[in-house]
Amino acid sequence: MSAVPVPQVLFRPMRPADVADVAALEKSLYVFPWSAGNFRDSVEAGYDCRVACDGSRVIAYAVLMVALDEAHLLNLAVASEWQGQGLGRSFLDHMLAIAKSAGVQIVYLEVRPSNHPARQLYKRAGFQQIAIRPAYYPALHGREDALFLGLTL
Ligand SMILES: CC(C)(COP(=O)(O)OP(=O)(O)OC[C@H]1O[C@@H](n2cnc3c(N)ncnc32)[C@H](O)[C@@H]1OP(=O)(O)O)[C@@H](O)C(=O)NCCC(=O)NCCS
Repeated sequence: MSAVPVPQVLFRPMRPADVADVAALEKSLYVFPWSAGNFRDSVEAGYDCRVACDGSRVIAYAVLMVALDEAHLLNLAVASEWQGQGLGRSFLDHMLAIAKSAGVQIVYLEVRPSNHPARQLYKRAGFQQIAIRPAYYPALHGREDALFLGLTL
């Protein structure tokens, strides 16, 4: 476990017992959330699934899929009351350090063009746009493109 600048917050691996809390947080943050099953499958598949905790409470989570020297950041989210305090950036740095220590050379992710906080987070971390994936995400009216980003470690 490692500390982040917010003093009482610790990062640790996501456990099966965390899945219900993580899925509830996910539901509070996304209009089209992952299901509890999606998180359970990710843990069982051996993806690098991590949570940030304030005491016993899960306040952020991330899912990283590593394949040889590439990784895909599948999810990263911070509870709304914790947003804007540097936790997203710290957690992203933590996940990038995990990727680097696993021998990853490039990290990919998708983000909605409409998700300005996330785009700012990734831009500040050095991610660059590689492509646009048309109609990638479900949206309230039709579909939304994804920006496909990459960061060389
Ligand atoms: C994206 C998210 C993880 C950022 O977490 P956070 O803890 O608020 O981020 P931080 O406080 O570390 O800020 C990181 C950067 O994002 C920017 N940012 C944060 N909230 C923002 C907002 N509402 N609008 C614009 N920029 C914002 C910050 O300004 C900071 O950039 P800076 O260093 O240039 O100032 C968080 O907003 C979130 O969980 N959103 C819902 C889930 C989600 O969309 N996840 C990403 C899916 S791709």
